[in-house]
Formats: sequence, C-alpha cells, structure tokens
Amino acid sequence: MADLKGKVALCTGAGRRLGLGEAILKRLAADGARVVITDLGSPKQHMGTEHIGTTDEMEQIAEDIRRSGGEAITVALDVRDEAQVEAAIQRSVEAFGALDILINNAGIGYLIHPITEMPIEEWTAVLEVNLMGAFLCTKHAARQMIRQGNGGRIINIASQAAKSGHPHMSAYVASKHGMVGLTRTSAVELGEHGITVNAICPNHVTTGLGSVQNEYFAKYKGLTVDEYLAQMRRSIPMRRVGQGSDTANAVAFLCSEDASYITGEAMNVSGGVEMH
Ligand SMILES: NC(=O)c1ccc[n+]([C@@H]2O[C@H](COP(=O)([O-])OP(=O)(O)OC[C@H]3O[C@@H](n4cnc5c(N)ncnc54)[C@H](O)[C@@H]3O)[C@@H](O)[C@H]2O)c1
Repeated sequence: MADLKGKVALCTGAGRRLGLGEAILKRLAADGARVVITDLGSPKQHMGTEHIGTTDEMEQIAEDIRRSGGEAITVALDVRDEAQVEAAIQRSVEAFGALDILINNAGIGYLIHPITEMPIEEWTAVLEVNLMGAFLCTKHAARQMIRQGNGGRIINIASQAAKSGHPHMSAYVASKHGMVGLTRTSAVELGEHGITVNAICPNHVTTGLGSVQNEYFAKYKGLTVDEYLAQMRRSIPMRRVGQGSDTANAVAFLCSEDASYITGEAMNVSGGVEMH
C-alpha cells in the first residue's frame, strides 16, 4: 500500500463502471487519499453517447468508496472545456482543501477506421479528448500545485499505443504518443516545483472501451471475441490480458513517496507485450 493519507486525487473519465478510472480511484482511496471522481455525466454534445460515464455511475462509484470508509465527491467535467477544468479543480480545493494528484484518464478509443477512411471529425474528437484534455488539466492542476508549494503528482494514462503503431487506430495512437511528449515536457518544467509527471502504458484491459476494440478487431480478423482474446493471451508473455488493478497498482506506486525521484517516465504495464 502507498501512504496517501491527507492527499487529494482527481481523476478524469473516472465515472464509468469497470473502467481504469474506477479501479485507480478505489485503490487511491483505499490508500488514504480523498478522491474527486470526474466524468462527462451527460451524453450531450459527445461523439459516441453510449460510451460515457454517466452521473448515476459516478455516484455509484462514490458510494462504493464511502461504504469502504473513503471520502469521495463527484464533479461533471468535460476535459475539452477549459472553464470546466478550472471549475473542477476549484471544487476539489473547496471540498478537500487542496489538489495533490491529477490522473489524466479520460479517453476515446472506440472511433476505429483505416486511415484512408478516418473522418476528420472523429480524428479531432479523439485528439481533443485524449491529448488536449490532458494538456488543459495539467495546465490548471499544475498552477494549483505550484500555489500550494508542496509538490504533486501528475499521471497520464497513455497506452501500449503510445509506443507502437496499431492498425485502424491512427488518431488514438497519435494522441497516446502525444501524451508521452506532454508527459516529458511537463516533467521538465514542473520538476523544480517538486511535481513529478509520468505516463502509464497499459496493454488491453476489457473495460467498456476495451470491449468495443475486442468486437471490432475480432470481426476484422474473422474470429469470435473469445478466439480473438485467446490469440491475444498467447501473444502476451504473462499469458493474460491486463486488469484495472494492474494500472491502479502502478498509479499508487507513482503517487507514493518511494517514487519521488521518478519523473518523465512512460511505464509499461503490459505483461511484457510492450518492452520499449
Ligand atoms: N481498456 C484498455 O484496453 C486501455 C488500454 C490502455 C489505455 N487505456 C486508456 O485508459 C483510459 C480509460 O479507458 P477505459 O478503458 O477505462 O475506458 P472507459 O470507457 O471506461 O473510460 C473512458 C472514460 O473517458 C470518458 N470521457 C470521454 N470523453 C470525455 C470528455 N470529453 N471529458 C471527460 N471524460 C470523457 C468517458 O466518459 C469514460 O468514462 C483511456 O484514456 C484509455 O485510452 C485503456
């Protein structure tokens, strides 16, 4: 366990059941952090309305955390909207007195097409959520952390797709590679304030987003989803797909005192499938 007693952690895109954000915030709350669950909440003006974390789901996750003895609030936040980003950080400070940990987790990974067919609207939506959203949250969280003067932690949930190309995922892969660049530049700029910035690069996890990818790529390869997943497991050195807890464990470590000299990293959490 990491000792995060008294720390305040905000995670974006954390309001969807079975998602990495839920796993991350439950782990950080168990380690003593007070947590801010943020997500879109309402499907208005969003591409792929069935793929979002709703207000009800956010509240259920908060309730789970409170029942386990943790402290949690929920805030509706579209990471593409700078005013909403500022307001969500302000709300964390009002509720818990500070912001010590930001996890940029919001992501779109279900807009999948060959590059020759990729509509510009979908390319833009992916880049806006995955990369611009992480930038906006980093900008305002870092301002708050600098004001507080106690350092901080920023963790970007990138992907295996931040390190290698994957077919039909041009926007996603570009956005996740971009997140590593954002991580490195933020680490260079914020180090003098005691703020570490790292990325985590998980391989496949069967979340809501992961299930859409399974269905698409199984069909593309002429396999059933079970056959596709069996093939995937055989290609992973640890012989299983990822779990939310694998990513959550890595986040907890990077938030801990033990990781205070680690910054600018893009850490694979992939059972050995990604090694560089
Ligand atoms: N599942 C995987 O296989 C996998 C692997 C590597 C990385 N990731 C990354 O992990 C992160 C979480 O994904 P997940 O697999 O848990 O899927 P998920 O669908 O459960 O979570 C994604 C969340 O992002 C939110 N979101 C989308 N647009 C948003 C916006 N404009 N503002 C705020 N929130 C928004 C959604 O509402 C959703 O709750 C993503 O960044 C994803 O790219 C996932």
